Amino acid sequence: MMTSGIILGSRPRSSHAFGSLTRGVPRRLPNEFYPTPPEATRALLSVETFEGSIWEPACGEGAIAQELRVAGHAVVATDLIAYGYGQPGIDFLKETRPRARNIVTNPPYGDGLADAFLTKSLAFARETRGTVAMLLNLASLAHRTRTRWWREHPPARLYAVDDIVCWPVHRYGQAPSHFTKHRYFWAVWTPDHQGPSAFWWLSSAEFRTRQSRPSHNLTERNYA
Ligand SMILES: C[S@@+](CC[C@H](N)C(=O)[O-])C[C@H]1O[C@@H](n2cnc3c(N)ncnc32)[C@H](O)[C@@H]1O
Repeated sequence: MMTSGIILGSRPRSSHAFGSLTRGVPRRLPNEFYPTPPEATRALLSVETFEGSIWEPACGEGAIAQELRVAGHAVVATDLIAYGYGQPGIDFLKETRPRARNIVTNPPYGDGLADAFLTKSLAFARETRGTVAMLLNLASLAHRTRTRWWREHPPARLYAVDDIVCWPVHRYGQAPSHFTKHRYFWAVWTPDHQGPSAFWWLSSAEFRTRQSRPSHNLTERNYA
């Protein structure tokens, strides 16, 4: 069982509700709303296949869900907050039944939320025999408090995604420079996987437009 904060740590303490302000922007954004650039999801779909329906349980404005739908997947999109996409008012951590076979999301990170999302997602996936794909902070892969957990729950595959910035430019303008330094990876858990995780690198530039094509030819068959 994971302990709180094991994957991404806790929200920094501050007298301000969302931390200190940098040029008027809160240090942690309300509700942890950090949307995923579409190229990150397209890159994931170039290397992973999902059989059956997919639940995006923290869908925000639908950045991931929309790409999954465009790729032809049946997607259930929910979020705690109303952003005008999917079904609002659904606290994933209070859900008792899986709403789809697979789960794909970029979860909220602060206050141990990513840990809780991961625990819950893996439990649902055990029920449905589905796949879980989570976009996480690359720093969480190499941290002394997390090594043991990763060893005990090795994802089947890990994909570093270069050059993406999960920041709502349309709400707050360009991301502060400290934020642009964050790096991300997809972790993918499949039923019955044991042993070492496979690792690969994804180029976000190859997926900035829907028409673009990856330079690699990686399929589940040749990437076992
Ligand atoms: C990092 S943002 C990502 C949004 C979306 N997944 C994407 O990739 O664009 C995290 C999202 O988690 C939602 N959220 C936070 N706590 C939640 C909870 N307990 N249940 C469901 N959604 C939650 C926030 O409202 C926010 O939309």
